[in-house]
Amino acid sequence: MLKLPKVIGHRGAAAYAPENTIEGIHTAADMGIKWVELDVKLTKDDIPIIFHDETLDRTTNGSGLVAETPYDYIRQLECGSWYGDSFAGIKIPTLEEVVDVLIERDMGLNLEIKPCPGREKETAEAALDMLSHYWDNHDGLLISSFQHVSLEAAKDVAADWSRGLLLAPENDEDINAAVINPNWKDIADYLDVKTLNIAHSLADRETIEEIIDAELKVLVYTVNDPMDARLLQSWGVDCVFSDEPDVILANLLTVH
Ligand code: G3P
Ligand code: MG
Repeated sequence: MLKLPKVIGHRGAAAYAPENTIEGIHTAADMGIKWVELDVKLTKDDIPIIFHDETLDRTTNGSGLVAETPYDYIRQLECGSWYGDSFAGIKIPTLEEVVDVLIERDMGLNLEIKPCPGREKETAEAALDMLSHYWDNHDGLLISSFQHVSLEAAKDVAADWSRGLLLAPENDEDINAAVINPNWKDIADYLDVKTLNIAHSLADRETIEEIIDAELKVLVYTVNDPMDARLLQSWGVDCVFSDEPDVILANLLTVH
C-alpha cells in the first residue's frame, strides 16, 4: 500500500542542489526528507535518464534535443555549472544510478514519466522495466505523468504499482484563474490512479474536497511557502512537492 510522506523533494531538492541529480538526492536525504520526485526521459538510444527539459541547453554544457542525443554523448556532459561553481562537473544520472542511491539512502521515489514528444509509451515501458529489476519497496514508489499514454503503459507493465495523474492548469496563460481539466475524475478512473498531483494554482479548497470525495490522494506541486503548505494541509492535501522540503517539513501542522 502506498505510504506517502507529507513532503516530497521536488527534482531532488532543487533549491539547494542542481535538479534531478545524485547530489540533489543526497542533499534531500541529509535534510531528513524521505522521498524525492525525479523526472525520467529516454536518450536517443533508449536509456532512461533523469532529466527535466526536452533540450540539453538550460542545465548542461551541451545543446540539442535529448531525444536526438545518444547516451554516450550525454554521459560526457556536466549539469552543475549553470547552478553554481561548487557543483561544476557533476553528471546527468541514469535511472539505474539514482535507484542505487535511493535504495542506499532508504528513500521513496515519485518517478515522473516525462517523455520526449512521441515517446510516451516507450519511456514508461523502459523506466518500469528497469525499476522492476531493482525496486522492491512498492509502498515507497509512485509513478506519475501528465501523459495518459504513459500511465496506460505503466498500468500494462505493472498494474499493482501506484500511479498518479499530474494536472496542470488548462489555461496556462492566466495563472489567476487556473482551470482544472473538467474530466479529471473520468480520466483518473480510466487510468486507475491512486493520486491526483495538481499544480498549486489549481489547489483551491473546493477542488481539493472534490478530489478527496473521489477517494483519491491529493498532492500539490510546487509549494515553497510554508504558510501555503500549512493551509493546503488543513484543507486535506496529503503531500506537497517542494524545492525547499526542509523548510516545509519544519512548518507543517503534522508530519506523519
Ligand atoms: O511532479 C510534479 C512536478 O515535477 C511537475 O512539474 O515541470 O516540475 O516536472 P515539473
Ligand atoms: Mg517533475
